Amino acid sequence: MKTIFFTGKGGVGKSTLSAAAAWQLAESGKRVLAISFDPAHNLGDIFGRTLGHKVTRFSANLDLRETDLDEAAAEYIRRNTSILTEVYSYTKAFNLDRYFKVLRHSPGVEEYAALTALEDLLRTSDDYDVVVIDTPPTGLTLRILALPRISITWVDRLRRIRRDILDKRHTVHSITGTFSEEGQKLAYEEKDDRVMQKLTELFDRYVAVARHLESDANRVAVVFNPDYLSLRESQRILDGLSDLNLGVNVAFNNKYTQGLSEIADSMERELFDGRDAPPPVHRIPWEPYRREKSYEISYDLTQLFAL
Ligand SMILES: Nc1ncnc2c1ncn2[C@@H]1O[C@H](COP(=O)(O)OP(=O)(O)OP(=O)(O)O)[C@@H](O)[C@H]1O
Ligand SMILES: [Mg+2]
Repeated sequence: MKTIFFTGKGGVGKSTLSAAAAWQLAESGKRVLAISFDPAHNLGDIFGRTLGHKVTRFSANLDLRETDLDEAAAEYIRRNTSILTEVYSYTKAFNLDRYFKVLRHSPGVEEYAALTALEDLLRTSDDYDVVVIDTPPTGLTLRILALPRISITWVDRLRRIRRDILDKRHTVHSITGTFSEEGQKLAYEEKDDRVMQKLTELFDRYVAVARHLESDANRVAVVFNPDYLSLRESQRILDGLSDLNLGVNVAFNNKYTQGLSEIADSMERELFDGRDAPPPVHRIPWEPYRREKSYEISYDLTQLFAL
């Protein structure tokens, strides 16, 4: 299973081009899922369907889905609070239900919800040849792509702290023959400890996501328009991706017209000159708006991703 992420500034044509690529790849015989991670979904509008968290079959080879980030955030919090209450059932201090609404709007929850949804997607999409991902505007996308590596570092640190705690419990156990708090027997070996099991599970999941993103199975497309605001934002995307050790496989200078060729030339030079391994740039012509089948564009995208 290969993934293609479409990134770029707001309004440059990420949804349009990801829909077009998904449609063309499906028509060429690949099994394709087009999925949106943008809270402001457009994929359904482009394909003229009402989409949701569950897969909708659009054609023989093409499935569509919109990730419900609110639902993903609620699920993320539910999972974590249930682990906390289970593991710390001996203490009454955690009444997390009361804080559910507040937690939902805590900093970072949306990113972690998206990461959880992405992890889930990668783990369950082996039936597809290609998963095309329409992303939210730059900042959120870069944070989502950065999270697996950041989380690996954090979880690894937490595992070391937990190991220290278990070692101390082990020492107490070997001296007293028991270790309990408020009558509850506590684990002192890694294999019996729910917290350690959970941390290891999280660690393995984040490693799998990071490995996939950095592997040859992943493609990143950057979309921009021949205008200078989109140039500045594309520079930030390219810098951000390179900080994350993610390359860009293909760039689209979208909504191109002949009259903009000078601007397009100078923008492409400014964007890619001096960068290591600049991607091929494809100029996608401006096409008059069509209400029907706007996922059908005349530019052939099927060969560009080297799938
Ligand atoms: N090649 C093109 N020619 C003409 N119009 C285009 C082209 N590509 C996209 N558009 C139009 O530009 C607008 C924005 O496109 P689209 O929604 O695909 O961008 P986006 O990057 O996904 O935006 P957002 O960041 O809001 O999700 C839409 O009205 C779309 O029809
Ligand atoms: Mg969009």
